[in-house]
Amino acid sequence: DIPSLAETFKDDFAIGAALEPSQTSGLSADLMKKQVNMLVAENAMKPASIQPVEGQFNWDQADQIVAFAKENGMSVRFHTLVWHSQVPDWFFQDADGKPMADETDAKKREASKKLLLDRLDAHIRAIVGRYKDDIKYWDVVNEVIEPADPDSMRNSNWYKITGTDYIATAFRAAREAGGPGIKLYINDYGTDDPKKRDRLYALVKEMLDKGVPIDGVGHQTHINIYNPSVLNVIESMKKFKELGLDNQITELDMSVYNWNDRTDFGAVVPDDILQKQAQRYKELFEALKSNAGLVSAVVFWGIADDHTWLSTFPVTRTEAPLLFDKQMHAKPAFWAIVDPSKL
Ligand code: G3I
Repeated sequence: DIPSLAETFKDDFAIGAALEPSQTSGLSADLMKKQVNMLVAENAMKPASIQPVEGQFNWDQADQIVAFAKENGMSVRFHTLVWHSQVPDWFFQDADGKPMADETDAKKREASKKLLLDRLDAHIRAIVGRYKDDIKYWDVVNEVIEPADPDSMRNSNWYKITGTDYIATAFRAAREAGGPGIKLYINDYGTDDPKKRDRLYALVKEMLDKGVPIDGVGHQTHINIYNPSVLNVIESMKKFKELGLDNQITELDMSVYNWNDRTDFGAVVPDDILQKQAQRYKELFEALKSNAGLVSAVVFWGIADDHTWLSTFPVTRTEAPLLFDKQMHAKPAFWAIVDPSKL
């Protein structure tokens, strides 16, 4: 019998994991029950899953995850009300079925913008209305910053059609539908990168100044065993804390490869690599623990190495980014965090 992550960090922050509905039973479920006290849907609560056709809501998968969390006394993060990916095309089609973003006539553009914001508002009110008592933490918008795009705002359909108005509309609708009891986050990856961090900071500040109800920043934290530095990860969160916001690490995993590396370790990840990973995880958790109140939750993007998006991205290969191996056994990274004397 091994210790529990959730128990180990109970005075510091919540510990979470992402899961698919299929993982609410079986070995993954058993491991999550023991190890975490927060859950997030890996895909089941994205716009394409919840409202694939306008007005037709698929609640089954999301309900399954919420029920599993309730049965086991776990809190839930909602991921995600708004995203540029995994969002159905119908959102962005005008009354004639044409892509809104292609419209050149000013009047029609204005009408499209209104239609899109109305659809967004309805999407959010339906979902938040259903889950506001069961889900406390919400990714309201995901990945809206892109330093390579104009004004460093991701040039998505949302942005092309509404500018940044979709962001304000989304937070306001969520607050109105959910009340003050739910916590609203702007979520992104690469928030340790000073350029991206500063753009995100400026956007959040601008929104807060306008009275847009943002409670916190979600830092995905898809890192690898080489980059980025733990210091940069921590520094970024400190900046947002100084603004009065909560921070959550929302999608933590640590690839065993460097960003541009396309090699494959094959069946067995070398031990020195797993040890390096353990040291990095240890460094990160020590930094989080010693900065009391910096984060309210640390959520892993999965629970064990048998199921991780990284095993097919950017290429299909052996990956081992989490704390448990494919057989659900604790890896060196788990012991490094929980009890380094067992390393
Ligand atoms: O469900 C369908 C299945 O019916 C179909 O046969 C199959 C064929 O491709 O696709 C299945 O959908 C896949 C879906 O995951 C569910 O497994 C999609 O192809 C696949 O693209 C999708 O990937 C997800 C990805 O987001 C989409 O961008 C990953 O599982 C999920 O881990 C990943 O999560 C994102 C976060 O939402 C945001 N931050 C980055 C993170 C990692 O990319």
